[in-house]
Amino acid sequence: GAAKPVIVAIDGPSGTGKSSTSKAVAAQLGLSYLDTGAQYRAITWWMVSNGIDIEDPTAIAAVAAKPEIISGTDPANPTISVDGTDVAGPIRTQEVTSKVSAVSAVPEVRARITELQRTLATSAEYGIVVEGRDIGTTVLPDADLKIFLTASPEARAARRSGELKGADVNATREALIKRDAADSSRKTSPLAKAGDAVEVDTTALTLPQVIECVVTLVEEKRAAK
Ligand code: DC
Repeated sequence: GAAKPVIVAIDGPSGTGKSSTSKAVAAQLGLSYLDTGAQYRAITWWMVSNGIDIEDPTAIAAVAAKPEIISGTDPANPTISVDGTDVAGPIRTQEVTSKVSAVSAVPEVRARITELQRTLATSAEYGIVVEGRDIGTTVLPDADLKIFLTASPEARAARRSGELKGADVNATREALIKRDAADSSRKTSPLAKAGDAVEVDTTALTLPQVIECVVTLVEEKRAAK
């Protein structure tokens, strides 16, 4: 019969090459791709645009169901829109980046976004690579394969400041460590490695090496299904 869809969860902190790896693996294997960080950024962008007080979890919770967030899951052209507006650019600003941890810590926000993620994951015809912080632990605990990417803080800061074109490495490292600490210590569904996840330390690996490693793991799982 037809191959069963394969569901891959890739978690880890920022600067580990998670997005580049997830997108490339999905493209190479003909799978869909979902960037869950983009969804949290999109709802944060909506909160900021609508003047919601980011310091007030009750205010955030009250409107968490309002924005319509749509993710396009083609790895060659991932898209994200809020109420019909393309927000791929605006969700990467410093302002959204500095506020996303507070918004994504609100349980009502997580419940809403988690539901969207599960719907997309279970409807992907050939399977999907879903990247985030809590995919293997909470969103898709029955994923066929769970990967947890790590790297030293120095390597992560260097990669992130490279992406941000000329941003100060020390400032980037401080901001990144602060955001990871917030994401790892929140009560609801923190950044964590699932017990059955394969940990890949990317510090000394090139991006093509990380991609190859994950592709091999997915192919092994697919063959065993
Ligand atoms: O991967 P990213 O940097 O774009 O993620 C942005 C933020 O979204 C991150 O600081 C924490 C939050 N996030 C989350 O709480 N759960 C996820 N599954 C993905 C992201």
